[in-house]
Amino acid sequence: MTSADTAAAQTAVDKAFEALEQHRRTLDKSTIADLLAGDPRRFQRFSLRLGSVLMDHSKTLATSRTVKLLVDLARASGLEARRDAMFAGEKINATEKRAVLHVALRTLSGRPIHVDGRDVMPEVAAERERCFAFAEAIRSGALRGATGKRISTVVNIGIGGSDLGPAMAALALQPYAKRGLTARFVSNVDGAHMADTLRDLDPARTLFVVASKTFTTIETMTNAATARGWVAQALGEAAVGHHFAAVSTNLAAVNTFGIAAERMFRFWDWVGGRYSVWSAIGLTLMIAVGPRHFTAFLAGAEKVDEHFRNAPLARNMPVIMGLMGIWHRNVLGYASHAVLPYDQRLARFPAHLQQLDMESLGKSVTLAGAPVERPTGPVIWGEPGTNGQHAFFQLLHQGTDVVPCDFLIAASPHERGRKHHDLLIANCLAQSKALMRGRTLEEATQQLIDGGMAPKEAAKLAPHRVFAGNRPSTTFLYRKLDPATLGMLVALYEHKVFVMATVLGINAFDQWGVELGKELATALEPVVAGRQAALDGLDGSTAGLVATLRKMRV
Ligand code: F6P
Repeated sequence: MTSADTAAAQTAVDKAFEALEQHRRTLDKSTIADLLAGDPRRFQRFSLRLGSVLMDHSKTLATSRTVKLLVDLARASGLEARRDAMFAGEKINATEKRAVLHVALRTLSGRPIHVDGRDVMPEVAAERERCFAFAEAIRSGALRGATGKRISTVVNIGIGGSDLGPAMAALALQPYAKRGLTARFVSNVDGAHMADTLRDLDPARTLFVVASKTFTTIETMTNAATARGWVAQALGEAAVGHHFAAVSTNLAAVNTFGIAAERMFRFWDWVGGRYSVWSAIGLTLMIAVGPRHFTAFLAGAEKVDEHFRNAPLARNMPVIMGLMGIWHRNVLGYASHAVLPYDQRLARFPAHLQQLDMESLGKSVTLAGAPVERPTGPVIWGEPGTNGQHAFFQLLHQGTDVVPCDFLIAASPHERGRKHHDLLIANCLAQSKALMRGRTLEEATQQLIDGGMAPKEAAKLAPHRVFAGNRPSTTFLYRKLDPATLGMLVALYEHKVFVMATVLGINAFDQWGVELGKELATALEPVVAGRQAALDGLDGSTAGLVATLRKMRV
């Protein structure tokens, strides 16, 4: 693109945003409840279905005109061309000069995808087969620990994308996991995490999977060394090799660590950490649920990829998710976004989305390196319902900030009997309804009077019981939390983030923002450890904290 092209594209985006701003003003007096009441077919018109997943965004302050203007914005930002460039293996991660091809990992058809003129699909398939063979061998007991005992616990050691995706998915797919084989995840450099994980484990029955794209991440390397020492102490140095496997793009570093080539599984620099659950990084998950279910997980994601590539923008689920994200963040000005799975097994889904969304969209410069003109990603947060209802939902309903919410719920549970699940669904539907509908002062007053309160007292207390309402939410209803559905959900959010980044003109695939803290931690470690006594050069606060902790330490 020439600079004139870039300027013209920016002008088109600015104009599309202006049109949305003007349109927003026309909605100032509308409410979501009015929009629903005024259109009996609103649910049909503002919901999309893809396989086992239905997305209902009818409880948002959006009209057909909103969607049209958002789609105009997507076109102005060049969404289709950038999407096609990603699927074609172009190096759209400009700051790292890398292709972005997590989608290749789930292209089960094997359709050729080229990077630097080479079809990567044969190596993708071959590495997946290696992982599957290893997973099967652990599952069947063909591959055992050094003493001949079967492996009963796999401990994944990784952090960020090398932890969150597999940990989230292993919990989500618990009903598909092999009995007698448990997956655990250690990420934090806090020694407590490793200590508490190992506490009740038998080294002879434990396999460690060291998962790190770079194989240099200090947390993972420190935890891996501790695990190595734990095995060596219990079973002897010669046993170590039987109890470790590694997943990385850095084969030389894995080799130096001492893990044999046949226990190394690789992926490629065109797989971002937060998009890597589909690769060998999913090894612990593959061992837990087995190749068949892992393949179904990939197939679910592939279904979303095909839809993202081919469906018209206005009927394209991840496109609408991303555009509604832009509507909420950039036009309505909402600074955070809650993800509320009414599905206990999706307890780690918000944490996975935090990395996916906030590492991708937490940027202040455009692809061209200029300051961005608009706010970028919202703060993503959330916890499963119904627990959240008894904790932070108060703020969602009566706080002064509006927080768009995503509700996720399965039509059917894995468990027998429907008592629990009917209650779960009722609560989920009630929350989105309450957020949308609210309760007026008159309603609140009347309710108190109906309950027997004197009108004067009721008038005093009623303001505390008013709910503003008109708070947007989107509900994802899926048949059952099976591997394919989970794959769909994760891929939907991945592409949502892609859409938002494209509209904002930022690079969703780098994460330079994590570097400064890492550099400073490396510099501070000798000071904290006492190998460097002098505190010169430290700012007053940091020096004061170090001096105090030196005195406090036992
Ligand atoms: O926190 C930064 C980050 O680079 C993430 O993007 C990544 O997922 C994580 O660290 C772990 O990195 P690695 O897999 O190289 O250990």
